[in-house]
Parts: sequence; C-alpha cells; structure tokens
Amino acid sequence: MYRVDSQVLPVAEFPFATVTANQLSFAERDERYRLLHEWPQPSYRHRSGLRMIWKYDDVRAVLAAERPEISRANSLEPLVGYPRIAATPRALPHLFRHLIPLPATATADLTDDRLHRKVWNTMGGPAGHFTLRAAERPARVAAMVEHFDAALAEIGTAEATLDVTALSIAYATGITGSAVGLPAAEWRRVAVWSGAQSGLLGRWMRGRELAGAVAALGQLFTASGRAVDHDLRSGTVGFATRMRDAGIPRRVAVSAVANSLAAGVHTVSGSIQQGVQRLLSDPERLWWDLLADPATSGDIAVKVLQLDPGLVAWKRRILRPVTLAGGTELPAGPVLVMFAAANRDPAAFPDCLSTARGGKMPLTFGFGAHICPGKQSATLAVEVFLQQLRRVAPRARLVEEVPAPGRAADLLFSGADIRIGLGGRL
Ligand code: HEM
Repeated sequence: MYRVDSQVLPVAEFPFATVTANQLSFAERDERYRLLHEWPQPSYRHRSGLRMIWKYDDVRAVLAAERPEISRANSLEPLVGYPRIAATPRALPHLFRHLIPLPATATADLTDDRLHRKVWNTMGGPAGHFTLRAAERPARVAAMVEHFDAALAEIGTAEATLDVTALSIAYATGITGSAVGLPAAEWRRVAVWSGAQSGLLGRWMRGRELAGAVAALGQLFTASGRAVDHDLRSGTVGFATRMRDAGIPRRVAVSAVANSLAAGVHTVSGSIQQGVQRLLSDPERLWWDLLADPATSGDIAVKVLQLDPGLVAWKRRILRPVTLAGGTELPAGPVLVMFAAANRDPAAFPDCLSTARGGKMPLTFGFGAHICPGKQSATLAVEVFLQQLRRVAPRARLVEEVPAPGRAADLLFSGADIRIGLGGRL
C-alpha cells in the first residue's frame, strides 16, 4: 500500500497530545498512529483528564471490562461532565424539558448485567433486530441502495462536484432511522441530534454550543419516545415491539432507541468519509477498483473500518489501580480506550496497511458483552455506500477545498470534509 509523507513530529511530543484523529487527513493519521506505537510508555495522561491507552491487548481487556477494577458506567458521560452542564444557564431549560427525569441507562453504560443481556440480545442476538441473517441479506442490500439513491437525490448532483460528507450523513441517517422505526419525516433531524450526542461525548463544549447540544440530545430522547409509542401502536414487528416482548420496560426501550440513533449516524458516515479520502488518494486506485468486484468489496469495507473508523475511541473508568495482563499499570480515573489505534498495533497486525488478511480481530466495534450489536449492518452499510459511489462516479477525484475547512478536536468521533469531482459521469 502507498504511504504519503506527512509532517515530521518533534521526537519528544506525544502524537495525540494536541490533535485528535478528526483533525487529521488519513495520511497524517497513518503517521501519528505509527509514532504512537513507538511511544516508550503504554499510556499517556491527556490534558482532558482521560488516560489514553492504545496497545491491542490493553484496549481489548479494558473494553471487555471483566475485572472488578474496570467500570463501564462512564461510557456515555459528557466530556465536560454534568456539573458544567448544570452550571450552564442556557442548558437548563432543555435539561428540564426533555431530560428530567433522567433517561434510563439501556446500553453502553448499563451496569445491571441481566437487564443488559436482554437488551443486547434483542438488538444483536441470533433473532436480534439489527442482526444480519444470511437469508435477509439481499433485501437489506436493496434497502441500503435505496437509501443511497434517496440521499443522492436529496443532496443533489446539479453541480460538477458532490459533497460526500453530506451524502454519507443523509445515507447513514436513513439507515439508522429506519432501523429503529423513526418516521422518515424525522430522519433529517437525526443527524443533528446524533451529532449533539457524539459531540457531548468527545468534544470540549461550552456556553451556547453546549446548551445547543443538550437541547438536541433532549429532542433525541423525546423523538425516541414518540418512535417507540408509534411502533407499539402500529402492530407491526419492530424495534419497540421486540423490546416489549422481551419484557424490557418502555423507558429502557426509549433509551435503547436514542442510543442506537446516536450510535449509528456519525460512526457509519465518518468511516465512509475517511475511507473515500484514502481510496481516492491512491494514484493507482487499487482499493477503489476492488470495490467493483463483489468478491473483494467486502474486504475494502472491513479495511476501512479497521483503519479509519468514524468512532476511534471509547471511555471506561478504572476504579482502583490495576495491572493488566501484559504489565500495563493504570491508576484510578477515566480512560480513553483508543481502539482505532489498537487496530494498527504492529504486535497484532504485522502489516495493517495491506489488504492481505491476517492479524487479530480489529476492535472497531468494541469487545466483550457490550460489543456493537449493529456491527454487521454497519459493515454492510459502508460496503454498499462505497460500491454505489464507485458505480455512479467511477472516475471521481477528490476536490481540495482552499482553505481546507478545519474540523473540531474530538476525542471519540472522526470524519472528513470530502467533496469529489464527478469525472464527467453520474
Ligand atoms: C461504523 C459504525 C459503528 C461503530 C464503529 C460502532 C462502534 C461501537 C462500539 C465500539 C461499541 C461498544 C460500546 C461499549 O463497549 O461500551 C458500540 C456499541 C453500540 N452500538 Fe455501535 N458502532 C457502529 C454502528 C452502529 C449502528 C449502525 C448501530 C445501530 C443501528 C449501533 C448501535 C450500537 C449500540 C446500541 C451499542 C451499545 C451496545 C451495548 O452497550 O450493549 N452501532 N458500537
């Protein structure tokens, strides 16, 4: 695989001390992740207060959180903390209107293991709502192609260029919104709500921006409640009826819908954006052309999700000092588990930039009891989008925006502002 040279870092600087994946091109990320795996220590205390870890075995163990010293309870906590939200006067009306009483915990931060198993199985078990069963695959692909076409019609192709970032967000919104039974009229706003939830988790927001994010998060929960009630009334089998039949309380189901909506949009679309940037930057377009063959297009999606996922890290908390199996010592406190970095650990993936199979299982979708129940659907969604984009614009080229739009620092989510020239065909 090709490698693009990027700026050389001063040796003493930790590669992710001042920038996040979201602010880098794929080539800069390749370089910084390479340097990260040469860093002499196995963890780094980031100025956010989170301790970063990136070695494959450490990341897997902390994601699994099987030891009593490791907690998942902070997974969905806003980066700025609840006290700052409570101290932001503009945020309070939104908090009271939509988020008091506080929503139930239903997924990532649910610590009642029995209830969690029920919720997870309803989403990702063999008969789960998101599970991709072989017999249903052709219909799911067809539905995804329809979402792509609808997104393309919505974004518009009147110009000679196409905004892939907007297209991917509209596409991921349709896929995730329909998966949880949200009426189509609300899909467009899901992107804003999901962005708010994502932003609260990984960005250092203040004032007006923080209040806006709390408002959008509140709307996400209110709309999720409406979606659950609509689904239950409609009498068709959907997300909410499956939850009810499994004996899961309504308020837990509402949170499961909200968390899924928040989880599905910027993760899928960010992976697509960064993947398109990588694929189209290769002068030989090797991976781009492999998309044309159904026998290899799935491998490209898997590789994109290994190297450039739209979600790069997740949170855990160390309750008491712990020494992991490989010897890494972690003090008590919050941890940023950098799974996108772990996906490039040379100890687990001898040549991560090659499409040749080999190496361990990438940790993009987490590990253990809370592993992503949307994993297979998300992988298929990325594959279908990339295939369709190549189908409609085989000679696409990246258009550089001058000046390049700056992206916000985000410890969790990552994407790219991508516009393509259509190469004379659409
Ligand atoms: C590229 C796309 C995606 C990535 C990278 C991703 C990644 C992850 C990760 C790392 C977790 C583990 C959280 C933890 O251990 O606490 C997770 C959980 C989850 N994901 Fe995804 N996800 C993606 C797409 C989706 C989609 C499309 C959906 C739904 C339609 C979804 C729904 C969920 C839910 C509900 C959970 C919580 C599971 C639980 O705690 O039991 N995800 N995801």
